[in-house]
Amino acid sequence: MLLHIDNVLTPEEAAYTRQMLEQADWVDGRVTAGYQSAMAKKNLQLPEEHPVARQLSDRLVEILQQNALFMGAALPYRIFPPLFNRYDGGQSFGTHVDNAIRQIKGTGHRIRTDLSATLFLTNPEDYDGGELVIEDTYGTQSVKLPAGHMVLYPATSLHHVTPVTRGSRISSFFWIQSMVRSDAQRTILFDLDIAIQRLAGESPNHPSAVQLTGVYHNLIRMWAEL
Ligand code: NI
Repeated sequence: MLLHIDNVLTPEEAAYTRQMLEQADWVDGRVTAGYQSAMAKKNLQLPEEHPVARQLSDRLVEILQQNALFMGAALPYRIFPPLFNRYDGGQSFGTHVDNAIRQIKGTGHRIRTDLSATLFLTNPEDYDGGELVIEDTYGTQSVKLPAGHMVLYPATSLHHVTPVTRGSRISSFFWIQSMVRSDAQRTILFDLDIAIQRLAGESPNHPSAVQLTGVYHNLIRMWAEL
């Protein structure tokens, strides 16, 4: 499942985040790349331990944990602290797949990357190129969203970022280990969740709403790993 989550940040929050990042010291993006992706990756990144990155990253995780659409779609077990990258002057990231396991710096934790997320922080009219192109099972999807909007997609997907030929593209990117490893199972749960919410909204006392909620939780019991 590839999902757009609109307005994770308001335009004002996105602008503030971008301004904070514009003033920070960027380094070569290959610091977090694996062997194969280091050859394809040409961008800039904020070091994980950078104080600005830490502050914005913590704030973003708090916001995500209150976003019902994100929580329902990702069913997160662990969220990798969001990182920040920048592409300008023709920079790009060739076709790659993200590493399966990542160490969270400063903790003993490792996460399995079930889902990848990109939160756009620059408005599309402010740069040319910079599309995130994801090879989904339904075909190739090209994603370029307004500042504050996010795309969530299976980390198993091959993807690339096309060259940024004008302006600068700043984004946050991170991974999620889900309680439900399988993308197909997560998709079923998400569809069921949406249908239950619609039913409960339109017909709050419908007995099927309770029964379907039971089915939802029983599927979580069957499929979740903690
Ligand atoms: Ni990637």
